[in-house]
Amino acid sequence: MSNKPPFQLAGDHGPVLALVHGFPLDATLWAEQRALAGHVRLLTFDLPGFGAQPAGPLPTDLGGYAEHVRAVLDAAGAERVILGGLSMGGYIAFECWRRFPQRIDGLLLCDTRAEADSVETRAVRERGIAAVHEGRRAELLENMIETLLSAASRARGRPAAATRAMMHRASDAGIIAALGALRDRADSTPTLATITVPTLIVCGEQDALTPPALARAMHAGIARSQLALIASAGHLAPLEQALAFDAAVARWLAAERLAD
Ligand code: MLT
Repeated sequence: MSNKPPFQLAGDHGPVLALVHGFPLDATLWAEQRALAGHVRLLTFDLPGFGAQPAGPLPTDLGGYAEHVRAVLDAAGAERVILGGLSMGGYIAFECWRRFPQRIDGLLLCDTRAEADSVETRAVRERGIAAVHEGRRAELLENMIETLLSAASRARGRPAAATRAMMHRASDAGIIAALGALRDRADSTPTLATITVPTLIVCGEQDALTPPALARAMHAGIARSQLALIASAGHLAPLEQALAFDAAVARWLAAERLAD
């Protein structure tokens, strides 16, 4: 992994909101969140193996992805940030909180969960890894579209096109590495009670992968948290319902006095 990973920084004032994308996507997941750049400086980047990240050594566990986030913050000169993550990005945000909480002033947990993989889900990860090795990656990724997006978003067409474009940019090795890290990740449930910073939990009302019940459980476990459910959105709320998502984040930033 390069010492100076690429990143994009939008906006010229306010605290840095660093956003970590989910699997198997890339930084363009957050394209619509540029509207938040009036309130914050928005820091986005591709995880190793995804988007336009240069080929190189890949993380072998979630800690490796958290170290990539740390390297991006260093490269961007962002000593302290509000850290957000969607799904896998949320799992990585928990890992970052465990590793460098002193750099995190707030957490934005989107369509994610605290729990580790169940035995069944671990088996699904194994089948995914085998599918990529056997050249069946297109089938694997296409099958994911249905579970990632709400029926309303699928009917609109654009969210699916944007999601497919991100998936196509992922490298085979990147998908395999991430599936292994997801499969082996720690249970973050005990971490919830250690989170002392303002936290916004956002979840699409139709999220089939990390449904609202899991968001409510995180809300109950994190002392200073707020919960925002986004109507008509599935697992990719910031992409599917960007206006409602951005409004919820802007309201929270103002209410917690994290940004104007
Ligand atoms: C993601 O959206 O990052 C993945 O779906 C997470 C997961 O499979 O657990």
